[in-house]
Amino acid sequence: MFLGALAAPLASTGVSVARRTAARLSPIKRPLEAIARSEARIAARWSAAAHHRLMAVQWGVPPQPEWMDHSIDLHYQFLRDRNPLWAERGVFGGLALKGGDVLELACGDGFNTRNFYSLRSRSVLAVDFDDTAINHARRYSTAPNVEFRLADIRTDMPAGRYDNVVWDAAIEHFTPDEIESIMAAIKGRLTPEGILSGYTLVERSDGAKHLEQHEYEFTDMADLRRFLTPHFANVTVFETVYPSRHNLYFWASDGPVPLGDGWPHAVTG
Ligand SMILES: C[S@@+](CC[C@H](N)C(=O)[O-])C[C@H]1O[C@@H](n2cnc3c(N)ncnc32)[C@H](O)[C@@H]1O
Repeated sequence: MFLGALAAPLASTGVSVARRTAARLSPIKRPLEAIARSEARIAARWSAAAHHRLMAVQWGVPPQPEWMDHSIDLHYQFLRDRNPLWAERGVFGGLALKGGDVLELACGDGFNTRNFYSLRSRSVLAVDFDDTAINHARRYSTAPNVEFRLADIRTDMPAGRYDNVVWDAAIEHFTPDEIESIMAAIKGRLTPEGILSGYTLVERSDGAKHLEQHEYEFTDMADLRRFLTPHFANVTVFETVYPSRHNLYFWASDGPVPLGDGWPHAVTG
């Protein structure tokens, strides 16, 4: 209550009032900070426990979902495992954004759509064929320039021209033939220097699938690259390896791709 009273003038009234209030509180900054930190730690522990229970229900009680609620990564798994891989796809995909119109395929819960892709884009159209994912995304991942739409990308790929197409954690949900035809549909919707970016994973060494819904898991970077090179002049595939998962990322375009030749946002050498 007291701390909220401090935050309110900072946020909603003139700067001079906020400055005077802040100056008056300066002598008691340390105890104020201790109170705020205690509250934040209690809230974080409660939030982690609640998201642990949410995960237990979502993944422990059948049927298993085909998409992840990334608020569980943010509030629980990340803190438990010290493993940042859940954020990599958003960061690496974000590097490829050109500031224009984005088509995101198989968006799942829309967490990355909103939190990694929408701020630096003119618009994002994000599609998924699972109505539970789209309903969740519409409820929890909204932003003014984002539209979530129900669509099966094998048969109902949205029309239009896009500066970026994002295909995260989903290419492995399709057969090689389906990947080939979706890749052609993506190419037909990208602007001349538009970029396809995405994420997938390497198959497990014991041959078991990571998820029962996976149709094709890749053997390595070269295996993924062979699906991209027939369609794009410039292809980068790279990997990160964690104890739990071997990850593959890709950027593909007929123009420059992040950090490659002609990429305007880096200097090398
Ligand atoms: C593992 S989730 C990835 C979600 C999100 N892109 C992410 O990175 O968290 C895979 C998603 O692919 C979607 N999907 C699978 N087949 C699809 C299809 N034919 N058309 C559209 N979405 C599909 C599933 O519904 C699911 O939401």
